[in-house]
Amino acid sequence: MIGSARAVAGPNIALIKYWGNRGDPALRLAANGSISITLDSLCTEVQITFDESLQADRLRVNGQVADGPSLARTRSFLEQVRRLASLQCHASVESRTNFPIGAGIASSAAAFAALAMASSHAAGLRLELPELSRLARLGSGSACRSIFGGYVEWIAGAAHETSQAEALFPPNHWELVDLIALIDEVHKPVGSTEGHALAPTSPLQPARLADTPRRLEACRHAIRQRDFAALAEVVELDSNMMHAVMLSSTPSLIYWQPATLSVMDLVAHLRRDGAAVCYTIDAGPSVHCLCEPGHAETVSSALAALDGVRRVLRASPGVGARPIDDAD
Ligand code: PMV
Repeated sequence: MIGSARAVAGPNIALIKYWGNRGDPALRLAANGSISITLDSLCTEVQITFDESLQADRLRVNGQVADGPSLARTRSFLEQVRRLASLQCHASVESRTNFPIGAGIASSAAAFAALAMASSHAAGLRLELPELSRLARLGSGSACRSIFGGYVEWIAGAAHETSQAEALFPPNHWELVDLIALIDEVHKPVGSTEGHALAPTSPLQPARLADTPRRLEACRHAIRQRDFAALAEVVELDSNMMHAVMLSSTPSLIYWQPATLSVMDLVAHLRRDGAAVCYTIDAGPSVHCLCEPGHAETVSSALAALDGVRRVLRASPGVGARPIDDAD
């Protein structure tokens, strides 16, 4: 055994979305900058051990041996860590998540942020947060944001060395609530890695990219001022623009289910009735409903009563990825 470490990270919800890469897809260099909130209460814990007696990397997710694409993705990520640390030996990785995987909650963001931290520590690397953010990005683009807590911006950059996240505001700057309406998945969705590759096929993607600096600034400004109405406007527009690109790609990507639209409609009604709430949707049918804490109970009960909503998870801005000491 050479080195062992543990780390934990939360998923994040993008307010301004990353969709599409530039250049080599393996580098996950975002076509546009993005802003997100790192979430508390949901988390992924990763334990890794580099062990000279292993013949190959191993992965267990929630106690189950993983093979196929998730093992292949973990192995190619670990190759980068081995290269950085000049290490030869394989590793055994154990990942545990307290929320559903692949249900529109950035599970890969939490997993790769935690894996970046744990694997770099176990390999003896002492990386500063920006460097850790770049490493996490190689596993899953959005993972670079989960290294930091609170409100986070991913500066797209044009090369590996410049494409990394940074903290905008701490978690307690604005204690918004994310109510995640989990919706049943009827068909197997296309994962975001494949989805990013389709973005350039949409004739709407150039218009979306051209307008991104304006949306980023509107979003930063709304967060800085804690202006919910301004935030709602830009967050819903950004989500709709990303889904317009997905819908108009070849082949077309449709992540929404009928219940997704029911939630969008409900959010519009609740807002008309005075609730500070807005929606945003990632690459899945579930809907993140962001609201001010004073409206969370009303919004949560309305969501739970809707047909097609399996359950409602609740999270708030939380801290970034962190190591777990054996004493913890
Ligand atoms: O990091 P990935 O490859 O899982 O892509 C994330 C894509 C979205 O969740 C749809 C948007 C985002 O910025 O998180």
